[in-house]
Amino acid sequence: MNESQYDTVIIGAGAAGMFCAAQAGARGGRVLVIEHARTPGEKIRISGGGRCNFTNLNASAANFISQNPHFAKSALGRYSPQDFLALLSRHRIAWHEKTLGQLFCDGSARQIVAMLLEEMDQAGVQVRLQASVAQVRKTEYGFGLELADGSHLQTRNLVIASGGKSIPKMGASGFGYTLARQFGLPIVPTRPGLVPLTFDAGLMAGLKPLAGVSLPVRVTCGKVAFEEALLVTHRGLSGPAILQISSYWHEGEEIGIDLLPGGDAFDALRRLRGEMPRRSLATAFAMLMPKRLAQHLADRAAHEGPIGAFSDKALRALAQGLHRWRLLPAGTEGYRTAEVTVGGVDTAALSSKTMQARAVPGLYFIGEVVDVTGWLGGYNFQWAWASGWAAGQAIAGA
Ligand code: FDA
Repeated sequence: MNESQYDTVIIGAGAAGMFCAAQAGARGGRVLVIEHARTPGEKIRISGGGRCNFTNLNASAANFISQNPHFAKSALGRYSPQDFLALLSRHRIAWHEKTLGQLFCDGSARQIVAMLLEEMDQAGVQVRLQASVAQVRKTEYGFGLELADGSHLQTRNLVIASGGKSIPKMGASGFGYTLARQFGLPIVPTRPGLVPLTFDAGLMAGLKPLAGVSLPVRVTCGKVAFEEALLVTHRGLSGPAILQISSYWHEGEEIGIDLLPGGDAFDALRRLRGEMPRRSLATAFAMLMPKRLAQHLADRAAHEGPIGAFSDKALRALAQGLHRWRLLPAGTEGYRTAEVTVGGVDTAALSSKTMQARAVPGLYFIGEVVDVTGWLGGYNFQWAWASGWAAGQAIAGA
């Protein structure tokens, strides 16, 4: 094998690419990772507010969006959150569960990047930063790559781990989709996911004064529902509940918000009418939700006066409004702030066991570039590890 020949070239030194490289290199293959950014693992570094929500204990295919909801099962089943925890333990990285099975580093997300770099180093993987691929051709050897600096490489296996379109400022590119198309692989249309929702000027005028208000809600879109926190911002609605539902939302669809999930607003209002009949509706609402939101909703109520003056019928109408707030988003904040890209390389073209393109032996797609998108809460990194592991094992064993 001459200097410019590799067993495996991986494009993208993100979570999936670095993890796959360590697996593929561990058994002695000559592996090169090509990354166009200056530093590897940038999204890991900023993830989870700097502590990286690196997996979720409850990860299963049910937590992922894909045109084929079964596709992720095989990889997720063969590389589990427990497997990743065993790796962290070998690197003495301390972690904790925050909520809902979400695991974070006690220290810094940089520990995860350092761990992946160390794993790659031990496996003899080479990494070329600030390098990009200008052209890929199928050759007798496997694949011929021409880099932007004019150099040429040959590789038997080519792994595309270039991620989705989210946050272009951090190196996201459409590279993986363009390459998939070049080799005749279909793409499921992409859109921003885990992203704040925006509203038209009229609705925003009402929402803006509430910026900063946060409360637990149940958000629905079609048949999908999430019970988590909602946050009002100057640009629209955000918070975990909205980010989750945004991955399911399509333009023109309404979302429903239950401001008192799990409770019965009519019962609660009737009780408050009995306990504090002379207090204002805003004061009564404030017993159930943040004060500013309570005042806002009371101001918009059809009736005025103390809560004692409200009939059962009026309270029932108010209660219904609290449980069934319907909103029509105008759009999302887009790829600029989206945590993930929904859609991607169609799983129908890939083996669920190895991530190899069925029609192009030696070509693999892993991580976010594939049409498998996780919920908020560590699922996307678990997919990066699991799909990277699946491809890495297949390559190492070939
Ligand atoms: P990733 O995007 O990580 O890596 C792709 C790499 O390829 C990048 O380094 C990029 O520069 C490089 N690249 C792209 N095009 C290239 C080209 N043409 N040539 C060479 N290199 C190229 N998930 C989670 O589970 N828990 C969390 O806490 C968070 N938090 C979070 C916060 C924020 C702000 C964002 C934006 C995202 C998250 N995520 C997350 C999502 C998670 O970061 C994401 O799903 C994974 O990083 C995807 O891993 P990949 O390796 O597939 O792509």
